[in-house]
Amino acid sequence: MPEYPPIQVAYNQPVMVGKESEYMAQAIAAARISGDGPFTRRASELLEQQLGVPKVLLTTSCTHALEMFALLLDIQPGDEVILPSFTFVSTVNAFVLRGARPVFADIRPDTLNLDEARLEALISPRTKAIVPVHYAGVGCEMEAILELARRQQIAVVEDNAHGLFGKYKGKYLGTFGVLAAQSFHETKNFTCGEGGALLINDPALVERAEIIREKGTNRSRFFRGQVDKYSWVDMGSSYLPSDILAAFLLAQLEQREKVQNHRKKVWEFYQAHLQDWARGHAVKLPNIPPHCEQSYHMFYLLLPTLEVRQGLMAHLRQRGINSVFHYLPLHLSEMGRRFGGKPGDCPVTERVSDQLLRLPFHNALTEEDLRKVVEAVREYDF
Ligand SMILES: Cc1ncc(COP(=O)(O)O)c(C=O)c1O
Repeated sequence: MPEYPPIQVAYNQPVMVGKESEYMAQAIAAARISGDGPFTRRASELLEQQLGVPKVLLTTSCTHALEMFALLLDIQPGDEVILPSFTFVSTVNAFVLRGARPVFADIRPDTLNLDEARLEALISPRTKAIVPVHYAGVGCEMEAILELARRQQIAVVEDNAHGLFGKYKGKYLGTFGVLAAQSFHETKNFTCGEGGALLINDPALVERAEIIREKGTNRSRFFRGQVDKYSWVDMGSSYLPSDILAAFLLAQLEQREKVQNHRKKVWEFYQAHLQDWARGHAVKLPNIPPHCEQSYHMFYLLLPTLEVRQGLMAHLRQRGINSVFHYLPLHLSEMGRRFGGKPGDCPVTERVSDQLLRLPFHNALTEEDLRKVVEAVREYDF
């Protein structure tokens, strides 16, 4: 291992942006710290109103919101689910846990999102769902995906871990599928350490979602006075976060304008200061289609080769800057191969996975940090 200097610019750094401490202290003082307390209600209502979603349920993670997808869609052993190979393991695990067979689709080289033109060929009589992942908070081509799914009577459920407050054709990401999942992990624009949300766009699924999230009981109905005792009515688990975490999250969401403005400035700084260097070195920067409003979740470079990518990471690290790569192709992982994945199945994914490097991106980055990063990148000649 080479000797590296201490990190000066971290890839990620969670920060308090508003009343996090005050709200958490209030939750504790009120002795109301289990799930579904007042802060959970306020955070969910804020999201429902801002996004125009009929029902938002906070969850312990995006992973758990995705697991709720599979339960709510009644995924059975042998069912097939189409999803990108270029995504986080949770997108696929959620369905594999129910016995489904994942069918990996390749991505578009321009947005790194599910390639809608390749989906139809992957559909079979067993296909139950398509899972678009809005990579870097840039919308997938939802019009084409929804139209195909409607014709084939397949559910669309969105993994919107990166895309809170991003829009596709003027409509918020997470409001297209019957269900959508958000992440509030510390690497996301808004966080409570570990957390997530299930967005329910089909009101017919709300009651069962509440039951699944509450250990398979009708406890939510009991607290609303709709039944006089609660009991086990379905399968379920415990997917509700503590109200202390919801208090932290609410404080973050209240500052959404400030946070998103800062992140927009970070993204635009990188774009403005790296454009010429990128052009001169055959490096690709993120592409945002004109009909997409991104969520400013990340800024990545696509370097010509794996060697160049690894070289740039080491070069930045020598200068105290942390940069990171991203997903390894799921179809080529140990588990992916057990489902029949082999090299060449998703060529764009296989290439991009070697080429992609993410630059530091968080809510505490200063202009001095950003200057340091772009100078270091531009120094790297190859
Ligand atoms: C696309 C995607 N989906 C799901 C997740 C899982 O999120 P969580 O850590 O909240 O479970 C991640 C994590 O970063 C992700 O990138």
